Amino acid sequence: MATTLGRPLAPHARSYAADFPILGFPTSRGKRLAYLDSAASSQKPRAVIDALVHYYEHDNANIHRGVYELAERATEAFEFAREKVARFVNAGEPAEIIWTRNTTEAINLVSFTWGLQNLKAGDAILTTQLEHHSNLVPWQLLAAKTGAELRFIEVDDEGLHELDDLDAKLKGVKLVALSHVSNTLGTIAPLDVIIPKAHAAGAVVLVDGAQSVPHFKIDVQALDVDFFAASGHKMCGPTGIGFLYGKRALLEAMPPFMTGGDMIREVGYEHTTFNELPWKFEAGTSNIADAIALGAAVDYLESVGMDWIAAHERALTGYALERLQPFVKRGLAIYGPRELAHRSGVISFNFADIHAHDLASILDTEGVCVRAGHHCTMPLMEKMGWPATARASFYLYNTNEDVDQLCDALDKAATVFRLA
Ligand SMILES: Cc1ncc(COP(=O)(O)O)c(C=O)c1O
Repeated sequence: MATTLGRPLAPHARSYAADFPILGFPTSRGKRLAYLDSAASSQKPRAVIDALVHYYEHDNANIHRGVYELAERATEAFEFAREKVARFVNAGEPAEIIWTRNTTEAINLVSFTWGLQNLKAGDAILTTQLEHHSNLVPWQLLAAKTGAELRFIEVDDEGLHELDDLDAKLKGVKLVALSHVSNTLGTIAPLDVIIPKAHAAGAVVLVDGAQSVPHFKIDVQALDVDFFAASGHKMCGPTGIGFLYGKRALLEAMPPFMTGGDMIREVGYEHTTFNELPWKFEAGTSNIADAIALGAAVDYLESVGMDWIAAHERALTGYALERLQPFVKRGLAIYGPRELAHRSGVISFNFADIHAHDLASILDTEGVCVRAGHHCTMPLMEKMGWPATARASFYLYNTNEDVDQLCDALDKAATVFRLA
């Protein structure tokens, strides 16, 4: 079997799509579903859906407090899921994994606790021009509250980080906060350069891993990152659950974020002492079922293999970039790093003068789901001079067939808009 470009499909033609029930259903127009919006949220495999149902049917009870068997079983499953996530990203210990609702909450946790405790006027926060609003707005507010300065690593026209002046930019910086992978352009940040320099300058580093941990192997200890934030719903898990990894020494020195039940050790009418890690940061009843289902998602991703997923997405992105080339003559603009090695499975584009929203609507009529808009990176869009882009993003369940369907749908858009 060969692609239309004559290259063999194997070994990455192997499809995991059948593991994802939703992909088996045609759209309301009777089209095959080509889901190319996994950067926004991934689809869920049967194993994750089953884990949720199993929990509610067999193990449902509140955790940590109950002494009866059911509550103990729920507690065990919840903490076991934390162990799975800790192993998945190679945290030093499960206590370094704090459950949050999502990446956004994990970043805000650091901003409201470590940030308010450690920053003052005269300090600086360094981020990049690529950031999702969730890794920008918290730092804008922190800077406003503390008087710290907010600085930016600039990016070039391809969306690659400009590091020539990094040493100068790091002077006085207490926190470097950057995304591992850009959700708009797919740029993979050169963490191997930035993290050691940031540490040498005395800064703590937070990595927004929302777009990296679903797609390739993460080792927080090898990266030597201080904080790492991620969302379950982008890595085959349910919505409403995410996590923050933090180095124990930093987490221990931080004040609590939210307060109330579960995060306490002892409460008197006047004073409270706080629980140990990780529960110090988990106030109130946790999202038990979704944490357990995220554990099932980790099992699923490991069973497929993170190296396979990374290789598959690279092959698919390469195939897509090649298949899209003929459209360039007809006005397609493809954004992001030109070299495959610098980008993940995200392709942002515009087609002639068709507005991205109109384009996405036409693709939708052909069963192709792509996102259109600013992708929660409004400053980046403004810098690049794009009012909006359409974005196709790949995951382990996508195949060359999805890319071919995207190209056929682009052909249709060209016809509708009478492009050459
Ligand atoms: C790079 C990046 N950071 C943060 C987020 C926010 O994730 P969530 O909405 O799950 O908190 C996203 C979501 O698209 C993202 O792509």
